[in-house]
Amino acid sequence: MKQDLPTIPGPIGVFDSGYGGLTILKQIRETLPEYDYIYLGDNARTPYGTRSFEVVYEFTRQAVEKLFEMGCHLVILACNTASAKALRSIQINDLPCSDPARRVLGVIRPTVECIGEITKSRHVGVLATTGTIKSDSYPLEIHKLFPDITVSGEASPMWVPLVENNEAESAGADYFIRKSIDQLISKDSLIDTVILGCTHYPLLLSKIEQYMPEGIKIVTQGNYVASSLKNYLQRHPEIDEKCTKCKSTIFCTTEAEDKFSESASIFLNENISVQRISLE
Ligand code: DGL
Repeated sequence: MKQDLPTIPGPIGVFDSGYGGLTILKQIRETLPEYDYIYLGDNARTPYGTRSFEVVYEFTRQAVEKLFEMGCHLVILACNTASAKALRSIQINDLPCSDPARRVLGVIRPTVECIGEITKSRHVGVLATTGTIKSDSYPLEIHKLFPDITVSGEASPMWVPLVENNEAESAGADYFIRKSIDQLISKDSLIDTVILGCTHYPLLLSKIEQYMPEGIKIVTQGNYVASSLKNYLQRHPEIDEKCTKCKSTIFCTTEAEDKFSESASIFLNENISVQRISLE
């Protein structure tokens, strides 16, 4: 990472491979409306979920570096795949070289912390990308806090492309959504709680609710990540004072601006303007 980063306070960076992180940004802005944000979607290279550890790490490192260059002192990886495959390496290898005072946080830990209070059967399912499921991050993190919980995971590699290609509401989406849910539940009939461990998945929520067996609680991440961030900023005034508070959001994508603004405006229910940037 580069050494000559801006030192004045700046926005909070929110990064995802594409549109999914908007589900996190939305909740963060509702919880912390006074702050400034830069949202960065790497739509040109999405999905990350089927990519190797090395590639996800490199792409995420580039995105974090860009957000630091744009003035962010705090970056949220609003992407489970990046949180699972790149967060630790960035925290351990890259931050000490770029600026040890900057912070990069993920979305898995804040999600996992709530699970102990939600599941009654102590059997939890996780739907996520292939990368997140293969990393075993969810069972590992859940067992650190709640060793008694049984965790089953199911990769749903078709769900992110449905969102990125604006097919979330199409009839074709039903087949893939039902298939992944059925496969997860067939692994453990005692599951009473299912974590949507990919930030794109809440954009498929109406169909997920339609096919999820009755009585199973569906956990989306946005509100847990937002309240965890609020708590973090209260506990770390030295980071909070480096975050500007003028209620603005800048949207950036690595793909065409019009494509991003059209879809993001639907997901956020507001008109937005978008800048195209390059990460390579
Ligand atoms: N939204 C991302 C996640 O939470 C990743 C999707 C992808 O690019 O595969 O995992």
